[in-house]
Amino acid sequence: MTLQDAKRLLSQWTDRDHRWITAPVTVAALLVLLVLVKSCQGIAYYNSDECRIHRLGYPIEQAQLLVNTLSDSQVDSLIARQEHDTIAVTLIRARYFIADNFDRYLAFHKRDTTSAPLSNIIALVNIGADQDRATCSVPCDTSKGQLMLVNGRHYLDESYKPDSLATFGRSYCYEEQKALPVVVDAFMAMQQACKEQTGAQLMVNSAHRSYQQQIAMHKRSARGYAAHAGYSEHQTGLAIDVTSLEHPMRWPFDKSEECAWMHEHCHEYGFILRYPKRQSLVFGFAYEPWHLRYVGREVARRIHDEDITFDEYYAYYVGREEIKDKR
Ligand code: DAL
Ligand code: ZN
Repeated sequence: MTLQDAKRLLSQWTDRDHRWITAPVTVAALLVLLVLVKSCQGIAYYNSDECRIHRLGYPIEQAQLLVNTLSDSQVDSLIARQEHDTIAVTLIRARYFIADNFDRYLAFHKRDTTSAPLSNIIALVNIGADQDRATCSVPCDTSKGQLMLVNGRHYLDESYKPDSLATFGRSYCYEEQKALPVVVDAFMAMQQACKEQTGAQLMVNSAHRSYQQQIAMHKRSARGYAAHAGYSEHQTGLAIDVTSLEHPMRWPFDKSEECAWMHEHCHEYGFILRYPKRQSLVFGFAYEPWHLRYVGREVARRIHDEDITFDEYYAYYVGREEIKDKR
């Protein structure tokens, strides 16, 4: 059939004699088509992840958030649980949420008996504290330099020694102590500022400790206050224990004006309080008001401002690509 034939045929069907038949048939066909399309769309939506999550009891916008944030397999396991888990959305909205850790947050939250706040659950999972220490310990990545992480799960070999160690002058320590040169310089500056502002003289009572020295320290220390050899950041040359001439013992020192000053200002000199109170119950080591760790001024300021531990800082900014900033 030629184009001319088709045109002729069409004009016959739509001419005045046939129009009363073709118009209603066309409209009906269109309506059927519309209903079919809508039904297919409805079935597709009914079976979509968003709708399946919504049917578990999540409002639509939360279902959308979950689908957009989680991986396909995480969505599948959320749906498979067949329950409306109210913490799922709270987790996703938390500042330090890492999508890859979603299932571990839920699992850790379920087995947690301490009723720790969700922010702690998130922090603990992010730093790997939900995993078995014996099987999940890994060597410390010493290539990170002054940001290397040494904790209960990241260890140094017996042979690890800092590249160079400088000795603190006699007015900075009770007996000879050594640390990385940058740490010695930073402490000297901090000691001077503290003296000017509080009148008290900060002193180092322990700094670099070799693997062998840490074995001895661990044997004579109270439980929770000294790491096992290899797991102490004193071996890095970046950690110092500080008290003052006025309060040489650690516990009276913790109540002193100079200790409060040091906690408030140490980040200005590149130090952080490595074992603050907030972490003591859950991060493994007891609160140590005297133990400072050098990380450099920029990092120290960020840790101070965000009020996080170095373990968390490392998890978010050093050991992996920076997580999406939720501020
Ligand atoms: N006191 C800290 C935990 C250490 O021994 O490294
Ligand atoms: Zn210490």
